Amino acid sequence: HLVASLQVDQTYIMVKPDGVQRGLVGEIISRFEKKGFKLTGLKLFQCSKELAEEHYKDLKQKSFFPKLIDYITSGPVVCMAWEGVGVVASARKLIGATDPLQAEPGTIRGDLAVQTGRNVVHGSDSPENGKREVALWFKEGELCDWTPVQAPWLR
Ligand code: TYD
Repeated sequence: HLVASLQVDQTYIMVKPDGVQRGLVGEIISRFEKKGFKLTGLKLFQCSKELAEEHYKDLKQKSFFPKLIDYITSGPVVCMAWEGVGVVASARKLIGATDPLQAEPGTIRGDLAVQTGRNVVHGSDSPENGKREVALWFKEGELCDWTPVQAPWLR
C-alpha cells in the first residue's frame, strides 16, 4: 500500500541535562510516542567530555563550543533512538528551532525552553547523522528491534 514505499529512518534524540534536572523527561518522551514513532533505545547516561566532543565535532570551531560541552556533560542525559517514516525531519519539527525564542508554541523548545544554550533536547539533523549518532551513543546490545503488536497504522 501507499506508505510502504516511504523511507523508515532512525534518529538520535537526547534530553539534555536541563531537561532531566527540570523533570521534563516523561513529557519529552511522550511527544515522540504520541506522534507515532517507535522507540528502539533508551537510557539515562552521564556522558564523557570525549563523547560530547565527538557528537558535536562539526561545531568544534564555534565560539560556544566549550560552553556547549560543559553544559552537555554537566549532568545525566536521556539517550533515545527512534525509528519511523520521516522520523528525522518530523522530530526536528516537534523539537522546534534551535533558539527557543524562535521556536513556535506547540514545539518542545517553544513550550518548554527559553535560551539557546539551555534548549532541553537534541535531534539529529539528517538521516546520515541519525545513524551516526545512534551508533555513537548506543552499543548494539542496547538497541531493540521490536514489532508493535497493533495493526501498523503508522507505517
Ligand atoms: P545546532 O546543531 O546548530 O542546533 P540544533 O541543536 O537545533 O541542531 O547547535 C547545537 C547546539 O549548540 C544547540 O542545540 C545549542 C548550542 N548552540 C549554542 O549554545 N549557541 C549557538 O549560537 C548555537 C547556534 C547553538
